[in-house]
Amino acid sequence: MRLIIVANRLPVTTVRRGTTLAFKPSIGGLTTGLNALLRAGNPKGLDDYCWVGWPGLPPAGFDDEALRAALAEMPRYVPVLYSKKLYKDFYSGFCNSCLWPLFHALPTLTTYQEWQWTQYVRANELYLEALAPMLREDDVVWVHDYHLMLLPQMIRQKFPRITIGFFLHIPFPHYEIFRILPSAWRSQLLKGMMGADVVGFHTNDYAQDFLKCILKISGLENKDGLVMTQNRIVAVRNYPMGIAYDDFHRAALETEASGKKNEFLKDFQGQKLILSVDRLDYTKGVVNRLLGYEQFLAKHPEWHQKVSLIMVLAPSRTDVSLYGRMKKEIEMLVGKINGAFGQPHWTPVLYQYQTKSFDELSLLYVTADVALITPLRDGMNLIAKEFVASRSRQNGVLILSELAGASQELIEAKIINPFHIREIADAIDESLNLTEAEQHDAMTRMRRQIKGYDVVRWADDFVGDLTKSRKTMDALR
Ligand code: G6P
Repeated sequence: MRLIIVANRLPVTTVRRGTTLAFKPSIGGLTTGLNALLRAGNPKGLDDYCWVGWPGLPPAGFDDEALRAALAEMPRYVPVLYSKKLYKDFYSGFCNSCLWPLFHALPTLTTYQEWQWTQYVRANELYLEALAPMLREDDVVWVHDYHLMLLPQMIRQKFPRITIGFFLHIPFPHYEIFRILPSAWRSQLLKGMMGADVVGFHTNDYAQDFLKCILKISGLENKDGLVMTQNRIVAVRNYPMGIAYDDFHRAALETEASGKKNEFLKDFQGQKLILSVDRLDYTKGVVNRLLGYEQFLAKHPEWHQKVSLIMVLAPSRTDVSLYGRMKKEIEMLVGKINGAFGQPHWTPVLYQYQTKSFDELSLLYVTADVALITPLRDGMNLIAKEFVASRSRQNGVLILSELAGASQELIEAKIINPFHIREIADAIDESLNLTEAEQHDAMTRMRRQIKGYDVVRWADDFVGDLTKSRKTMDALR
């Protein structure tokens, strides 16, 4: 059986390097996680794979043809190319100005435009057109994320017997939020997802919210997560995505052994380091995090010059206006904090607006004392897991928002409400004062959890359920 991964992004995104068209690894939890999975080998029972997705817009000076030619050297990657209109109305528009804010429970930031919905349908059709000539009845098609919620049903209509999985990497909202969508859109989105045999979410809460919408909007009941449609059974369940634990653990051991850690820490003698890493996105709670840190510094002068916050924000969705506004707000706040508290040899916030490589990230995870992760809402948050996996000495503290999916597994983290600034300030103070023994205890438990359910287990679980559902359907036919 062949696994066909379908996601809005290919694992590589095109860039211009000098005069040539090149590729860089795509960022975000979805591609990071799935890439790690494929590096580890094919999921159980599958003997080959390919990945259908978008490699980004061709850089200035290049066209679609040049992009296709460059990608031909990576035959497992099947490109779906967008016109500028599709990029604007589908990707920046419906996906990232409607579905993204709404599904992160931010309806006041959500926009609803009919022409963007039309392009959303069109983009899903484009994926179907790319898939149709290559699909075989015995393929397992695994569709990912909010960009492609209509696709499972579109595939089902053309290939009634094929096995399809759908996984949502962001939260599924409560019924009261989901129903804000115009009724035709919300019914079609649900119908689209229900074209799959297995529909997966990071947490049980998201799965239950989805089932409630299926009941209230589509009128379909479920029994233990199994939904009977006219002629099929759809299994709905949670599969908390893991990370490539061994990769981070191994890299951490190498960093410790190579002396890179001590080299890095030379600039921070006598200081504790707090780390935060995110895509620059308004859902990540960066402003509240900075306000929390500012309050901590105001309340605790004894920590001045003894702590620094390294804040890495990777550029993301820069054409969506909300992201640009958020960047300005963050940069102003960083300036305000550094201006108010900084000293000639101490910069309280070390802000870096850049995408870090795996090695650079690993070094930061190993050297930090505290990871400060405060999303206002987040499907899972793999950064939290990567930090834990990198703590081979079983020390360090994870401060984690209760509104990140990861908080349901990492219960030994210092869990905070990201809307409550004082809680963030107090959590920073408490974390810096934790004893080695307390750190060790919590970190050991969290590492056990992350190691036990890594990205390979996650995919095996999901694909295992898909294979089971194929057998059930074959028996019923
Ligand atoms: C989140 C989404 C992914 C997306 C990633 C990066 O993790 O769930 O589907 O790929 O963000 O965002 P981008 O818009 O750059 O693909």
